[in-house]
Amino acid sequence: MENKKRIAVLVSGGGTNLQAIIDAEKSGIITSGEVVLVISNNEDAYALERAKNAGIKAMAITKKDGDIESRVIQALHEENIDLVVLAGFLTVLSENFTKEFPKRILNIHPSLIPSFCGKGFYGLKVHEEALKKGVKVTGATVHFVNEIPDGGEIIFQKAVYVEDGDTPEVLQRRVMEQAEWIILPKAIEKVCSEMK
Ligand code: GAR
Repeated sequence: MENKKRIAVLVSGGGTNLQAIIDAEKSGIITSGEVVLVISNNEDAYALERAKNAGIKAMAITKKDGDIESRVIQALHEENIDLVVLAGFLTVLSENFTKEFPKRILNIHPSLIPSFCGKGFYGLKVHEEALKKGVKVTGATVHFVNEIPDGGEIIFQKAVYVEDGDTPEVLQRRVMEQAEWIILPKAIEKVCSEMK
């Protein structure tokens, strides 16, 4: 397809959601956009290897480089990015950043928003809190990013059952497999295909 939207994925760690996006491009789930840039705020992130293995331009922008946000914004503009995807990017973005890309930033969060979300809820911590509360159903949410942490418009959600004996790690993996890796590529395709 001509005129694919140019996607940047921001990561901090293992990058399994990035991998799901790359695989979804290969399998034809994502046809309206292509990942052209991966940026990590952690130079040891395995996600950077995944990007390189897929032939995607990858860079680390860390505290050593000065103000991370302004450097990231600069890199996104240099690559003419249409859509920014936060896939395990474990830093809260300031209003300065979010207003630069209104309705152009997506985030995957590992719970059913508005449960277990907002400042301080990220990664394994989300699943620890869900287990502590004793919820029987959790899941994942893809949403647009605005100035409120996890507060932007919801695009897709998918529920996942909590099972007896779950540890945070086991639950995290199930939420990824049954929800995150499915709804994030679907949301990217939806947003890219509807983008003017
Ligand atoms: C994922 O579970 C993602 O939902 C979560 O971090 C993990 C990253 O894994 N994101 C947040 O908690 C954002 N608040 P990955 O690097 O393997 O994709």
